[in-house]
Amino acid sequence: MSLLKLQHIETGYDKKQVLFDVSLDIQQGKIVLLVGSNGSGKSTLFKTVYGLLDVWNGTVEFDNQTLHTSTKKTQTSKLIDKGIMYIPQKNELYEDMSVLENLKMSLLHLNNKQESTQRINEVLEQMPVLKDKRNQTADRLSGGERKLLSLGMVIVNKPKILLYDEPLAGLSSKNIDIVLQWLQILKENGTTLVLIEHRIKELINFADKIIGLKLGTLTTENLNDLETIKRFLV
Ligand SMILES: Nc1ncnc2c1ncn2[C@@H]1O[C@H](COP(=O)(O)OP(=O)(O)OP(=O)(O)O)[C@@H](O)[C@H]1O
Ligand SMILES: [Mg+2]
Repeated sequence: MSLLKLQHIETGYDKKQVLFDVSLDIQQGKIVLLVGSNGSGKSTLFKTVYGLLDVWNGTVEFDNQTLHTSTKKTQTSKLIDKGIMYIPQKNELYEDMSVLENLKMSLLHLNNKQESTQRINEVLEQMPVLKDKRNQTADRLSGGERKLLSLGMVIVNKPKILLYDEPLAGLSSKNIDIVLQWLQILKENGTTLVLIEHRIKELINFADKIIGLKLGTLTTENLNDLETIKRFLV
């Protein structure tokens, strides 16, 4: 079943066009890896789906409902209600709140306190470094710890689809393993994952499909193996 569908998307910043006629159909429960060189438009594609950029032309649909067109834009809060979540390349946290408070903030919409506590504890058990620092404010976390917290804040929400921009960038091998384990758990729980990543080796076997962007255009090439992907990226 098609979950996220982009048709003929054109967009950019001010007058600079970044995406050109991008059409994409992501099936429910699948893991899609989006690759492309720096500046090819990968993050722009995520921002478009999440309604942070205006669509110039084309449509974005989720679960057979139109989210964005050139005349309609769905608000972020509505997207979250629908189960769409996005982790940006640069993590945004509540800087002066503790790790625990950040996790609680991301579950404000959930009225069941017991359920909320249980979900947060589950995450903290699997991320001991965050558990140890649960009372420390976010502005005192390391880059890697911030990334784990951003992921934790999404996991507790049990999203239908997660757009994850560079999940592995800047992480130690220990934290890469933690993130990969969580991606596996999300996959088993049926979350559709769209991942942008330069560390392709770590994800090539995990992904069901690899798609490539070059200068804002999706490739029709079959990116099934590392050699082909490397050639595509030069
Ligand atoms: N806020 C912005 N204002 C103007 N131009 C932007 C903005 N953000 C990105 N761009 C431009 O849009 C193009 C695509 O950028 P984007 O961030 O989507 O690339 P990317 O594929 O995610 O690259 P990377 O792998 O380096 O993260 C680039 O030319 C970039 O300079
Ligand atoms: Mg990017």
